Amino acid sequence: MTHSSPPVRCEELTVGYHGEPVLEGVSFTVETGATLALVGRSGCGKTTLLKTLAGILDPLDGEATIHGTRVPHSPPGGELGYIPQSLGLVMHETVLTNVLHGRLSDLGAIRSLLGRFPTDAKTDARDAIERVGLGGYEQRRVKELSGGQRRRVAIARAFVQEPRVLLADEMLSELDSETAHSIVDCLATLQAETDMAAVIVEHNLTVANDISDTVLRLGTGGIEERIERTRDPVSRQRHE
Ligand SMILES: Nc1ncnc2c1ncn2[C@@H]1O[C@H](COP(=O)(O)OP(=O)(O)OP(=O)(O)O)[C@@H](O)[C@H]1O
Ligand SMILES: [Mg+2]
Repeated sequence: MTHSSPPVRCEELTVGYHGEPVLEGVSFTVETGATLALVGRSGCGKTTLLKTLAGILDPLDGEATIHGTRVPHSPPGGELGYIPQSLGLVMHETVLTNVLHGRLSDLGAIRSLLGRFPTDAKTDARDAIERVGLGGYEQRRVKELSGGQRRRVAIARAFVQEPRVLLADEMLSELDSETAHSIVDCLATLQAETDMAAVIVEHNLTVANDISDTVLRLGTGGIEERIERTRDPVSRQRHE
């Protein structure tokens, strides 16, 4: 790993399942503090690409790196935050415990399994829960929440990790526009504070355009269009 490497880099990357490509020849770079949005019709391979960047799927060909570490190897702890489309929450556990799982790599698995989270981790987790608008829900079990509330728990879990790279799969779906705007504000604040880079899957093209520096439109088998955006820093901070 070198610090001169960009947060995310793909070079002629081929992704897919069981040796069968879904997307081929994907190349892009995401610089520090920048956001890249992946758009495209259902089934074109957005999640497959994101899972490959997250190290869940092996690349079929080409190369992808996160801060210089070649996927599927994991970059050092805390570097990568992933919000899966399926959320990956522990349904019978509380909101607070799920969000604290974002700190697993700091704490060590055994300590967290024993439920012994240090006070500062709890303070940060409560703060993240508040920021996604779920203050007061800390002790509620995730299985008792709505789809949009669950999504916000997954967002808080990723935010509390303060990752250097965030991979988010349809983070804003199931949310009303007011809640979605407040999550976009949270993301902008986190990026301003930490220079985090983000790769987001977003099916709403208007939202994708608003919150990203680059939009990649994926089509059958690969990148169909690459749109470079010039974001107004004010609208980036206050997405209204
Ligand atoms: N585990 C799997 N094994 C084999 N093929 C898969 C698997 N998961 C997805 N696929 C296939 O890979 C292709 C891309 O799926 P993917 O989930 O990446 O699409 P997507 O762009 O994220 O779609 P959506 O917008 O509906 O979430 C689809 O044809 C899908 O059927
Ligand atoms: Mg998907």
